[in-house]
Amino acid sequence: MAIIAPSLLSADFTRMGEEVREIEAIGTKVLHIDIMDGHFVPNLTFGYSMVKALRPLSQMVFDVHLMISHPLDYIEQFAKYGSDIITVHVECDDDLGKCIDLIHACGKKAGLSVKPKTSPEALFPYLDKLDHILVMTVEPGFGGQTMMPDCLDKIAVIKAECARRDLNIPVMIDGGVNAANVQTAAKAGADMMVAGNAVFGAPDRAAAFKALTEGSVIAE
Ligand code: DX5
Ligand code: ZN
Repeated sequence: MAIIAPSLLSADFTRMGEEVREIEAIGTKVLHIDIMDGHFVPNLTFGYSMVKALRPLSQMVFDVHLMISHPLDYIEQFAKYGSDIITVHVECDDDLGKCIDLIHACGKKAGLSVKPKTSPEALFPYLDKLDHILVMTVEPGFGGQTMMPDCLDKIAVIKAECARRDLNIPVMIDGGVNAANVQTAAKAGADMMVAGNAVFGAPDRAAAFKALTEGSVIAE
């Protein structure tokens, strides 16, 4: 069974506190928080002040996805204000080794993400230091896009290399997960899946969350 992580990007921005409480009440353990800088991706969301504001309201794991060109300048703030997992992009402009070391120095879990056009091998130089891997299944920047199913093939490549090195790093996918493709994603090896629209956009969020969770149990 995969861990489904609803994405705050699809929440109602006029009532973030209530949205976080509501999504935790349906059984969410991991909340995905998308940070965009308008440079790394053509969209802006919110910054570490949002993490700071929401932290006292929730026990959920805050999984912070930094779609920003210069994460090194902001990692300490994201850590200080209550992020649990901090993921930076392989394609960002900063030194990835320094980013990972700083996340660890702040006592947090370090993740690395690859965009759809980036090969999974780009992660390999850093695998031994990683706690989390995020495979984008849409071009980052916006919620509600259609999954690019070919991206799922990267999971097997990553897992084979992890197995060769005796590493066990959870692989999360991000983008376009829904009830119709959750089984395919699970069979491809996704341990965790972000779900924005498919949960926050559903008329019955609890039912949608349950359907995705149960849908990720691999059928024989
Ligand atoms: C896209 C973000 C995703 C987004 C997913 O750039 O990284 O986390 O919220 O939203 P859905 O599940 O609607 O595709
Ligand atoms: Zn994301």
